[in-house]
Amino acid sequence: MTAIVVGATYVWKRWKKQSVDVDVEMGQKPKKDTFVLDPVVVRPRSTVIGGFKNGYGQVPDIDLTDASEIFKQTGFEFHFADGEEVKLDFWVGKGNFSIAYFAQKLTGEFAVEKRITEKDAIKASLREATVQRRCAQAGKGVAEIWNTVNLGTSLHHFFKVAGFGSARNLLDLVKCSSDTKLNTDIVTWLGLSILRGLETIGREGVIHRDIKPENILVYADGEICITDFGCIEINDDKDNLMLPWHSDGDKRFRSPDQLEACRLKGNAKFNGPKGDVFAAGLVLLLAHFNEDDPRILLGMPMSFRECVRVCDKPFFGSKFAPIFQSQPPNSLMGSVRQLVEVNPEARLTAEQARRLPYFSRHEGMLEDKEARMKDLAKLKAIKKTVASISAREARGINNAEQAEYYNNNSTTVAGGQADLSEQLPYNNEGEQADYN
Ligand SMILES: Nc1ncnc2c1ncn2[C@@H]1O[C@H](COP(=O)(O)OP(=O)(O)OP(=O)(O)O)[C@@H](O)[C@H]1O
Ligand SMILES: [Mg+2]
Repeated sequence: MTAIVVGATYVWKRWKKQSVDVDVEMGQKPKKDTFVLDPVVVRPRSTVIGGFKNGYGQVPDIDLTDASEIFKQTGFEFHFADGEEVKLDFWVGKGNFSIAYFAQKLTGEFAVEKRITEKDAIKASLREATVQRRCAQAGKGVAEIWNTVNLGTSLHHFFKVAGFGSARNLLDLVKCSSDTKLNTDIVTWLGLSILRGLETIGREGVIHRDIKPENILVYADGEICITDFGCIEINDDKDNLMLPWHSDGDKRFRSPDQLEACRLKGNAKFNGPKGDVFAAGLVLLLAHFNEDDPRILLGMPMSFRECVRVCDKPFFGSKFAPIFQSQPPNSLMGSVRQLVEVNPEARLTAEQARRLPYFSRHEGMLEDKEARMKDLAKLKAIKKTVASISAREARGINNAEQAEYYNNNSTTVAGGQADLSEQLPYNNEGEQADYN
């Protein structure tokens, strides 16, 4: 029940672009001991996958004991309302093609399970996972896959749990904060991490093609990685990185040159890796300007068909000009400008971008995980305080006594955020029809 409330609030908020998620933390003080919970049910896992020695148990629902343990291990938080059924039918996150659930290693460690059951999808997903694993082993910035178990009729990938979910959550948290230094640090860290991930996959000849906040994972231990290799292209020819115009990926994050290729159709192509860099730049702009959707940020038409018609290079140029007008070249935004450069020849590669003075000056952020964890904790605390105040204001509870009562008797939880991002229609493959 609570999960539904949280999900609905989230969707509503994304469309309305509200800055505070009042329903989620209604009246709740940021208490440190929220997670000290009494065990409620001890339940054997229903299905074990991958063998009884090293396998994973699927977790069909989350009770308070699970929630408490998951939080302790991974930093991932849940909401339970008082008096409600203690089990939640809970998923970690939803994509277009799969839902990520919790699983637990038989040794006790929690994991995220992506389950694929369609025959064709299994084949594609096996390839996707093989490449993701190879990239994660080759360098940093790519989400690790612990195990893949192929049962023939279903395929199961097991990942380390990203306690903060996807970067979409990070963007939402940044929105609640007016601490400019903290927000700039977070956006810089996000930028460095995505560029590092792109550099790693680039060395492996991989083009991601679907860089967006939902495909970037934020781990509570201070690391950010690229995930979801469902749209990748592998290109062994480093001198020819051009992709066909109809190439996959979220259409809202397409580069001006891909949109141009979509207009021309036929044999028209665009530069794949530079498309990833452009999308990364858009993610950073969204985070910096507290926006959810590139179309809103840049005043693009909501319909993709219209977007292809209208959004040419001069269109992007005219939208970016005021954004970057007064940004010093060696600042964060001055550097992001070079990621969203309209002209792909002038746009930097991920490798070049990481070596920009601003990013190389901050390179150390990637290693200082303690500091990143502190930043995440600060953001979370800010969000909780803001949500708590707003909830009280929304209900007209100004009296301290009433507020105290309210805080003690409303939502009790194991916590805060889950990425329940509903996919926008723009993102659906059904929109492919737009091209025809
Ligand atoms: N390891 C993880 N830890 C926490 N959350 C995760 C993890 N992996 C995935 N998620 C959540 O699940 C969502 C969907 O995962 P993912 O993008 O890998 O699946 P998908 O179905 O292939 O997505 P898409 O529709 O974008 O192709 C992510 O956006 C994220 O919110
Ligand atoms: Mg995804």
